[in-house]
Amino acid sequence: MPDPTRRTITRPRRPHRKPSAALAAALSTLLLGAAVQVAAPPASAAEPHVDNPFADASFYVNPDYARLVEGSIGKTTDAALKSKMEQVKNAPTAVWLDRIAAIHGSDANGGRKSLADHLDLALAQKKPGRPLVASFVVYDLPGRDCAALASNGELPLTYKGLARYKAEYIDEIAKVFARPKYRDIRITTVIEPDGLPNLVTNLSDPECARAKSSGIQVAATRYALNKLHAIRNVYTYMDAGHSGWLGWDTNLAQTAELYTDVVQGTKAGLRSVDGLITNVSNYTPLTEPFLPDPDKTVGGNMIKSGTFYGWNPNFDESDFTKALHTALVAKGWPASTGMAVDTSRNGWGGSARPTAEGTSTVLDTYVSQSKVDRRTHRGLWCNVDGAGLGRLPQAVPADSPDSHLDAFLWVKPPGESDGASKDIPNDEGKRPDPMCDPDHTAPGAGGNPTGAMPDAPLAGHWFHDQFSMLVRNAHPAVPTDGP
Ligand code: BGC
Repeated sequence: MPDPTRRTITRPRRPHRKPSAALAAALSTLLLGAAVQVAAPPASAAEPHVDNPFADASFYVNPDYARLVEGSIGKTTDAALKSKMEQVKNAPTAVWLDRIAAIHGSDANGGRKSLADHLDLALAQKKPGRPLVASFVVYDLPGRDCAALASNGELPLTYKGLARYKAEYIDEIAKVFARPKYRDIRITTVIEPDGLPNLVTNLSDPECARAKSSGIQVAATRYALNKLHAIRNVYTYMDAGHSGWLGWDTNLAQTAELYTDVVQGTKAGLRSVDGLITNVSNYTPLTEPFLPDPDKTVGGNMIKSGTFYGWNPNFDESDFTKALHTALVAKGWPASTGMAVDTSRNGWGGSARPTAEGTSTVLDTYVSQSKVDRRTHRGLWCNVDGAGLGRLPQAVPADSPDSHLDAFLWVKPPGESDGASKDIPNDEGKRPDPMCDPDHTAPGAGGNPTGAMPDAPLAGHWFHDQFSMLVRNAHPAVPTDGP
């Protein structure tokens, strides 16, 4: 999932400084569901479709993820790091349905659980009287990842590919979701990361241009929305890139235009969509605490005019979700449309994190001293060195009320690679991507080195060194003595 214009930029964020104890308490509440005791509804009552499925819910914890983390714990000797990993192990992460086999039994799915296994486990994790939310990523678009190579998928950009997407992928997912026994689980779906964003900005790439002009990817997206929206306990969140990609005024306007057009073409129109999610698998901060005002001038120039932001006024996901919500509502979307942010890897803690606003009067130097996003360019997206875990998954975050945030989620399971730079044989359609090569300088990213960690495995495969780094650089820090 790459592209400079796409995974490019970040934006400002705000300080998130929860003390360890509060973090531990939050994690405890989230995972153990200890806080709320609500009278149990009658066993037979199906859940209504609610405005925010994450509100008051406990989150499904994926045992496949815990198992991968266990592997890293076994390799780690540093006791403090180990105990941090122990806590991250039980964090709720989304389950990626990244190929047809991921829907089915474990043999076909590289030893991972099937969709039905996950939903059965979710039922088992559900506490009486408390809703449970489980999140799945719908990620198998024909001609997937058209602007990059790392996550090219199994379905070609052809009408046959589209037919298989419908019959063998979406229909099969919908069949499982619709089983009556799962009707009390709030099932949230992230619809096709990078799919529509690529059709907003990457049309200079011939594959993306074809993806759009053929109508295949729009047809696939509408089909997925139609099928999933029809199931009452399923919620749809459309992927919407991130601030460093779609945050420029013109990109944002085109985003609102395309998404409105696509969704209006579904059976239920704008009601097909419960929300949008930003920053999936990216590293863009939630807030840039020391850069709250893009129009502030330094050395006579506005901050947003500097090289890093390149006139993009949205420095972070808080600002971007707010701007996107405003733009969509202006196009007729319901004000209840919720926003969510993938905060799995956008923490940017560690020793390189600035602790105060910069003091230089030279704009680019000032920006570089002030920004918590330590990338050299916002278009860098592959296994970015120096990154850290971000805010824990959380429902209804109180941060930035104007952003209409339904939740922070860990959509990208931290520790799973973004892609490899070497040719690793596989049957998933994944290819070597220069953006994952630390020795490559990326023309689409200002000619900067990619900043990728070396020796990465294929996209989606476990990357121990990256996981260790993300845990070490978490912001807020992971406590060593939590639940
Ligand atoms: C990969 C998927 C994987 C996902 C989550 C994507 O980049 O292409 O195969 O499931 O990341 O790690």
